[in-house]
Amino acid sequence: MKSKKINILFKYLTAIAILFFTISASFNVSCQVNNSITTQEKSNTAINRLESQNNTAEIIDLPEISTDNHYPLDEALMSRRSIRDFTGRKIDMEKISMILWAAQGITKNDTGYRTAPSAGALYPIDVYIFKSDGIYKYIPQGHKLHKVSDKDKRLKLYEACLLQEPVKEAPLNIVIIAEYGRTEKKYGSRAIRYANMEAGHVCQNILLEVTSLHLGAVPIGAFRDEMVIEIIGLTDAHTPLYVIPVGYAE
Ligand SMILES: Cc1cc2nc3c(=O)[nH]c(=O)nc-3n(C[C@H](O)[C@H](O)[C@H](O)COP(=O)(O)O)c2cc1C
Repeated sequence: MKSKKINILFKYLTAIAILFFTISASFNVSCQVNNSITTQEKSNTAINRLESQNNTAEIIDLPEISTDNHYPLDEALMSRRSIRDFTGRKIDMEKISMILWAAQGITKNDTGYRTAPSAGALYPIDVYIFKSDGIYKYIPQGHKLHKVSDKDKRLKLYEACLLQEPVKEAPLNIVIIAEYGRTEKKYGSRAIRYANMEAGHVCQNILLEVTSLHLGAVPIGAFRDEMVIEIIGLTDAHTPLYVIPVGYAE
């Protein structure tokens, strides 16, 4: 009789224990689900933020280019000088349009060939501009600007350029970025050499166009790469090669 009672008590306790573990396990699962939803929500919020940044990133049509400036090339070669002192005067979009076209504008629509030559026509160079109203990427296709930031980052760029005054003073800073991977696909280890050469072509085109527009500029190579990359929001697949402050000479 006594052992029967013990048996019933044991079964009773076992049932309570099972019930307790079941409730506690389902509570844990529900906590985990809730936690993972919170994490998911957080990451969704981050994605939404990024997407909305990209969506609000304006695409701007640049003014049409005009090739009737008729400033002789040999005169531009003769007059080009590194200019480091600028007045505060802003540069209008017509001039910015011409400078970007000279840098990377498409001159043959069927092939996409550009003002500057490129090994294998792979175009590893991107051109960004910094103005008081933000940072923009030049899009050669359709001659457009893509706004990547609506903040004035020129002071940050000035810091990245080791406090070189022209970067702070210029109303416009052009940044030349290489993505070696685009050329590596075809040319392997020669890609770095080719892209660096191409940055030189792009830079010289900019400097000559700037001269022909009666503006001044200086090519700058001394800066902290990682800071420039971070300011623009790029990855380590990108290498900044030049910063070019542009403005009206003092
Ligand atoms: C690759 C490269 C990097 C340069 N980096 C700087 C720089 O960081 N700061 C600067 O004030 N000038 C820089 N310069 C400009 C040179 O100092 C300038 O071209 C040189 O003094 C010759 O003067 P010019 O350009 O008027 O002919 C650089 C030029 C080149 C080609």
